[in-house]
Amino acid sequence: MSHLSQRPADPVVGRALPHESAALHVTGAALYTDDLVGRTAAVLHAHPVQSPHAHARVTDLRIAAALEVPGVVRVLTGADVPGVNDAGVRHDEPLFPTEVMFHGHAVCWVLGETLEAARLGAAAVEVDYEPLPSIITVREAIEAQSFQGAQPVMVRGDVEAGFARAAHVFSGEIEFAGQEHFYLETHASIAQVDENGQIFIQSSTQHPSETQEIVAHVLGVPSHAVTVQCLRMGGGFGGKEMQPHGFAAIAALGATLTGRPVRLRLSRTQDLTMTGKRHGFHASWRVGFADDGRIEALDATLTSDGGWSLDLSEPVLARALCHVDNAYWIPEVRVHGRIAKTHKTSQTAFRGFGGPQGMLVIEDLLSRCAPRLGLDPGDLRRRNFYAAGQATPYGQVVRHPERMEVTWQAVLDGADIASRQAEVAEFNRTHEDVKRGLALTPVKFGISFNLTAFNQAGALVHVYKDGSVLINHGGTEMGQGLHTKMLQVAATTLGLPLERIRLAPTRTDKVPNTSATAASSGADLNGGAVKDACEQITERLAQVAAARLGVPAESIHFHDGMARSSHPLEGADSAGTRSISWEDLVVAAYFDRVQLFAAGYYRTEGLHWDSAIFQGSPFKYFAYGAAAAEVEVDGFTGAYRTRRVDIVHDVGDSLSPLIDIGQIEGGFVQGAGWLTLEDLRWDESDRASRGRLATQAASTYKLPSFSEMPEDFRVSLLEHAHEEGVVYGSKAVGEPPLMLAFSVREALREAAAAFGPAGTSVHLASPATPEAVYWAIEQARSGGDTTVLEEASARDGDVVDGREPDGARRDGAPARLPLASPSHGIPSDVERGTYPADARVRR
Ligand code: MTE
Ligand code: MOS
Repeated sequence: MSHLSQRPADPVVGRALPHESAALHVTGAALYTDDLVGRTAAVLHAHPVQSPHAHARVTDLRIAAALEVPGVVRVLTGADVPGVNDAGVRHDEPLFPTEVMFHGHAVCWVLGETLEAARLGAAAVEVDYEPLPSIITVREAIEAQSFQGAQPVMVRGDVEAGFARAAHVFSGEIEFAGQEHFYLETHASIAQVDENGQIFIQSSTQHPSETQEIVAHVLGVPSHAVTVQCLRMGGGFGGKEMQPHGFAAIAALGATLTGRPVRLRLSRTQDLTMTGKRHGFHASWRVGFADDGRIEALDATLTSDGGWSLDLSEPVLARALCHVDNAYWIPEVRVHGRIAKTHKTSQTAFRGFGGPQGMLVIEDLLSRCAPRLGLDPGDLRRRNFYAAGQATPYGQVVRHPERMEVTWQAVLDGADIASRQAEVAEFNRTHEDVKRGLALTPVKFGISFNLTAFNQAGALVHVYKDGSVLINHGGTEMGQGLHTKMLQVAATTLGLPLERIRLAPTRTDKVPNTSATAASSGADLNGGAVKDACEQITERLAQVAAARLGVPAESIHFHDGMARSSHPLEGADSAGTRSISWEDLVVAAYFDRVQLFAAGYYRTEGLHWDSAIFQGSPFKYFAYGAAAAEVEVDGFTGAYRTRRVDIVHDVGDSLSPLIDIGQIEGGFVQGAGWLTLEDLRWDESDRASRGRLATQAASTYKLPSFSEMPEDFRVSLLEHAHEEGVVYGSKAVGEPPLMLAFSVREALREAAAAFGPAGTSVHLASPATPEAVYWAIEQARSGGDTTVLEEASARDGDVVDGREPDGARRDGAPARLPLASPSHGIPSDVERGTYPADARVRR
């Protein structure tokens, strides 16, 4: 067992503890960034002037009238930027644009003594626009060939040979929606400048180091002049990985120019209309199956809707490609990815980071093809699980593939699936207007940042003379329980009770050059760094204790506030050991002039990734899980409820089981929201309001709430799941459970299909809102999914060119060509899997 993953006896990790701030959260005492306004004197408030066009040139900007508004102090425009007028890392996001790229784009910002003064000032700013043509939907972008960034291709084997081998070849397409983060705390920053020009920004950011870098380049100062602190976030979910930077830069610019603290906090509607969301995707695919249902080949094109700038779209797309396989072995595969450039908010990271989108493509096509193959979708899935020794399409051997089988079987047994399937069948036989569906889906999700360099972290641990301990680490707390886990790691390594340890807010002047708290890797990375720092301290203290006790240093162990020697000697205590209390030892070490603080560091070993050829072993390991969902659907309205959900999920040996179960429940519900409820709508008309986000509030954007929770929700952690080479044998948990929610979508599809004859294939839109389910029911009643085309079998010597399905269909309806057939429009160099080497793929 590796040193990193080995647990001492009676560790503090693994205990079921509440979130370290739970009491503060529920009493309202927890401080969030914007709560600091009341504690800061002479704060100015920032308000944006937002564009009423999806795409337009700014031909004139007149601020004089705003300055006349009582309480307005200053209007910030592009002319004020001393450094680089850009808020992104790709230099494609002007902070003050001269060409507005989406409806709601901020043209300039007004600072006022009150938020109301700033708002009235913003309303008084006069902007002249010359409207330009706009692209709103991903389909429009594909038609216009409006793309941005790299177009990766992931290839293994020979897809055409796979199709030639296949007994059945199907093709189809799907377009599915993005998702609003709807964190409870909207974007917020407060900036202050001291007498020396040192800038201090408190920001609700998942990536304080990058917020620091962007602020520094906007202001034209070195990074050491900018400190960013994140107290905690009221949810980030990926939405605060890149998007906070520009807002922090506005606040910092305002503070430098006025010498006063500046606060910027978006209202909910501003947050919804200005900040990026989960990417919606369009996918077209062609898949070949052997007679027994094994996948022979997959050829697909995934087009994500990137919005107006790149932001994190390239790495999100890369992760989508890396998760198109989900849990399934696909011998021959070619997947092409591209990013549509549309006049919408710049879509960004969101829990799963493209993984859910990649997985939706395969989960959807399996369920649409299963009835055509005469197979139960669950059986089709299981038949295609990875086996030992097999590698992903990008070349990483799948470690512990048996955990897919084990979690799947645990759900089958624990949720009593066989007998419940019989009950569902009986229910459906005896009910004409209400039907039930029960579906299982698996999850395999890669953990680590694809970009190897990001897999490093730091920590700073101080032991004070009274023996109390203060830890800092590079990760941010957004509700996911990272700080709770880090306290447990430190307590375990130092052998101290939790109460002796306190954790300080994340700051760039404590731990520099951090990665975003993202990719679910927060606990793996920062846990490694905290453990390293604590071990440096215990190693030094062991020397001090050994000298005092007259034993070898290797014999010293730290547990429960004592340093004990396992070396049997005269004068030992009743347990046959010699010991010294932590407090005495710390004082002794101080007088011996032994350093009582340490900077810890961790980097994940064994990773490599070549984005140019889309090959490597980018992930330390995979997280696994399986879920079964049962739903009931009303045939008149499409309304449904989730009757029961059973989950078995692999978190390794849990660092903190209560936290992990909360993450699984929350992730699952958030995933179910994306797949079944949350319906982002933009104005796609040709009216003046074209491009306006129509769902600007919780009144029109439906979020999951208590009433959408599964009526019976059973979550368990996979047992005996120790993960070698990860801190205390644990695994990451933040994102993977979101994708367990595919079980709900598939259960809805099965319930809808039950309104048609047995074996009906159903195309279900995503999100599967009651309306979408209603249309799926109508489809089932009238012959089923006619959009998946089956090509004439290669065995009949009649190979069909994937670019032009021949329209041979079971129902004889006219063929509808996929909008973008899998190999259409790929430049030949891309086809070979090499795209420009300078295409920087982040994460
Ligand atoms: N849980 C809560 N409560 N709030 C959040 O914002 N973000 C998710 C997940 N769980 C989030 C959450 C996302 S997108 C990620 S990447 C991980 O937490 C990040 O934290 P970790 O790396 O510490 O797991
Ligand atoms: Mo999470 S989307 O990696 O912040």
